[in-house]
Amino acid sequence: MTDTYDFGLVGLGVMGRNFILNVADNDFTAFGNDLDTEKVNALIQEGGDTSKVNATTEVKTFVQALTTPRKIMLLVPAGKVVDIVIESLLPHLDQGDIIIDGGNSFFTDTDRREAYLKEKGINFFGAGVSGGAKGARKGPSIMPGGSREAYQHVKPIFEAVSAKYKGEPCVAYLGPKSAGNYVKMVHNGIEYGLMQLTSEIYDLLKKAGGLSNAELHQTYSEWNQGRLQSFLVEITSEIFEQKDDLGDGDLVDMILDKAKQKGTGKWTSQNAMDLGIPIPTIDVAVSMREISALKDERVKADALYNRPTPKGVDKNDFTSKAEQALYFAFIITYAQGMHQLADASKEYGYELELGEIAKIWRAGCIIRAALLADITDAYREDKDLQNLLLSPSFVKKVQETVDAARELVAYGAANGIPLPGLSNALTYFDAYTSSRLPLNLIQAQRDYFGSHTYERVDREGIFHTEWEE
Ligand code: 6PG
Repeated sequence: MTDTYDFGLVGLGVMGRNFILNVADNDFTAFGNDLDTEKVNALIQEGGDTSKVNATTEVKTFVQALTTPRKIMLLVPAGKVVDIVIESLLPHLDQGDIIIDGGNSFFTDTDRREAYLKEKGINFFGAGVSGGAKGARKGPSIMPGGSREAYQHVKPIFEAVSAKYKGEPCVAYLGPKSAGNYVKMVHNGIEYGLMQLTSEIYDLLKKAGGLSNAELHQTYSEWNQGRLQSFLVEITSEIFEQKDDLGDGDLVDMILDKAKQKGTGKWTSQNAMDLGIPIPTIDVAVSMREISALKDERVKADALYNRPTPKGVDKNDFTSKAEQALYFAFIITYAQGMHQLADASKEYGYELELGEIAKIWRAGCIIRAALLADITDAYREDKDLQNLLLSPSFVKKVQETVDAARELVAYGAANGIPLPGLSNALTYFDAYTSSRLPLNLIQAQRDYFGSHTYERVDREGIFHTEWEE
C-alpha cells in the first residue's frame, strides 16, 4: 500500500467524502484519513474498490500510502483544527510535499501557516472550495493560492474534479500566499449580498405584489431562464415549492426568520473597512443577519409602532420591475466584491487576475450566474478595470434597470418594507457616479473644529481657515 495513491484527504465529513469520491471518479487514486472509524468505513464502503479509494484512521499509514510529492487536502473545520492536523502530519512528511487547506480559513491564518511550513520545506495552499456538498461530489469551483511551482503537481487533479463551464475548468492558480482564501472570503461576501437581495425581492413580491408561494416559484423559475440565471435564483424557486413534511403548508413559511452566519461575510466587510473599500451592499447583508437574530426585540418593537400597510400594486408590472431591480443590484454586488479584490491584490501582493476569478466562478460555486460570463468578458477587454461600473459593456445593463430599482426603493420606504441591500446598491451607484458629492462640507467641518485642513478644487496645496473669525 506504500506510495500508491495520488491524492490524500483528511476530514471525511460530507464535504471530504464527496470530494475524495469525485477525485476517484476522475481516475486518480485517493486515500482518506479521519479519526472517526465510522467515517473511514463509510468511505471504504461507498468507494467500492480499495485500490482506487481507501481510508484509515492512522496518520502514518495514510501519509505513507501517498505518492511523492504528497498532495494532502484538509477538509476540516477552519481554526485550531487545521493547525492540529498539520502538526499531526508533519513528522511523516518529506520536503516538497504539499498540504492544501480546503476550508474557509481566515486569510492571515493561511499566511502564518504558509510561512511556518515553508521553513520546513513543505508547500502550503489555501484553496477555497465552493459548491456545497453536491458541488464537492459533482464539481466545485476551486480557488487555490500558494506556490506557483508546487501548483503544477495539484493542477491535473483539481482541473479534473472541478466544475466545467463550456468545457473550461472552474479552477485556476490565483496567486501566492493566502490569495485563494482571500478570494473565497470575498466570494462569500458576494454570496451574502446576493442572498440578502433575493430575500428582499421576495418580501416585496409577497407583501406588495401579493404573490403566493406557487407564484413566487413560477416567477423565480422564469427569472432563472433569463439574465438572472444563477444558482441562488434557481434554488430560491425550488424553495418556494417545498412542502412542509411536519404540517400542511409550505416549508418556507415555517422557517424561523433568524439567519445564522459562520463569519466569512463579516470578515469580508471587516477587511474592506481596513482597506478603505466601500462594499455597502455586502456590509448591510451582514447587518441584516444580525438584526434578524434580534427576533424577541423585533417582536416587541413591532407591537409598539404603527407601520404602514403596503399599498396594492399592479402585479405584472411590479414583478417585471422586481426582476430589473434584482439584476441591477446583483451587478452592483459583484462590482463591489471585484473592487475589493482589485485593491486587496495590490495591498497583499496577490497579483490577482480578476478575469480569471470571474471565469472560475461561472460554474460550480454558490455565486455562479449568467452575469459572470459578462463579467469575465469585461475583464478580458480591460484587465485593469477599476470597477465594473466603468466597463462600457455594463453601462447599458445598469442604465436599463436602475429606474426600476429607484421605484422599488421608493415603494419600500413609503410602505415600510425594509430594502437595505437594494437601497444600498442604489445609493452606492448614485454616489459612485456623482462627480461631486457633498463631502466638501465634511472637510469644512473637520477643518472648523479640528484644523484638519482641506484641499481646494481650483488650486494645489493644503489649506486651513480660521473659521470663527
Ligand atoms: C460555498 C459556501 C460555503 C458555506 C458558507 C455558509 O461557497 O460553498 O460559501 O462555504 O455554505 O460559508 O456561510 P454562512 O454559514 O456564513 O452563511
